[in-house]
Amino acid sequence: MSSHNTVSIPTIQSDDPIVVIDHVDKHYGELHVLNDINTNVGHGEVVVVIGPSGSGKSTLCRAINRLETIDSGTILIDGEPLPSEGKALAQLRADVGMVFQSFNLFAHKTILENVTLGPIKVRGLKREEAEKQALALLERVGVASQANKYPAQLSGGQQQRVAIARSLAMNPKLILMDEPTSALDPEMINEVLDVMVELARSGMTMVVVTHEMGFARKAADRIIFMADGQIVEEARPDDFFNNPKTSRAREFLSKILTH
Ligand SMILES: Nc1ncnc2c1ncn2[C@@H]1O[C@H](COP(=O)(O)OP(=O)(O)OP(=O)(O)O)[C@@H](O)[C@H]1O
Ligand SMILES: [Mg+2]
Repeated sequence: MSSHNTVSIPTIQSDDPIVVIDHVDKHYGELHVLNDINTNVGHGEVVVVIGPSGSGKSTLCRAINRLETIDSGTILIDGEPLPSEGKALAQLRADVGMVFQSFNLFAHKTILENVTLGPIKVRGLKREEAEKQALALLERVGVASQANKYPAQLSGGQQQRVAIARSLAMNPKLILMDEPTSALDPEMINEVLDVMVELARSGMTMVVVTHEMGFARKAADRIIFMADGQIVEEARPDDFFNNPKTSRAREFLSKILTH
């Protein structure tokens, strides 16, 4: 796939983390949904977040681009605290891409328009420039031939690859993905995972919530295992899968790896 990759993403090597998460807490009423979360994400790092349902994975992901507020603690992107409103917040959303379980494409816009809209409106690209970039990205994710169709005319796997291309079109500093393959029919999961693996290898900084352990083993630099709003374990994939340190992680892995 990378052979016809015409939009290159530079791999930035830097010691400063791109995301700093420091003593972050959040409650929903009585529920302590994020309980003293501390972790960093380095430039070019691929972090896979796993854990049981309700453990706070989506909430953490959404807090990083401020789709959710936090009660206390700090989240920094490139050394800057998350803005709360206005232009700065729009800029943050442009810099931090998000791919959701449901593809969230604009139903009444073509695939090409879906991918050019943000770059034209937010990044100020000329239409011609935005379309050239969009076509290259659609090519990269393998759906260039669908450019003039509408989302409903594409399969789920194709739509999710468009969503990834749309996110890349903003030239984000990092991409958050929350269970990007869990709404897909089984035969479409791999075509999306292949794109995600290629993206990870290209040096994109990624935080991915997923139950796809093959992807985690192949692409993750680090696994974060969450339970009950806490980070229970953080480790390199090999260590985590072969030698989980906590009983919570062992129990979780025994459940998901046996079927
Ligand atoms: N807006 C909300 N109001 C109240 N409770 C919420 C809200 N959003 C999430 N929760 C609760 O917070 C907890 C964590 O939710 P979250 O969606 O972050 O979990 P998750 O780890 O992503 O789970 P899953 O694997 O099922 O997606 C859950 O118990 C959920 O019911
Ligand atoms: Mg979730």
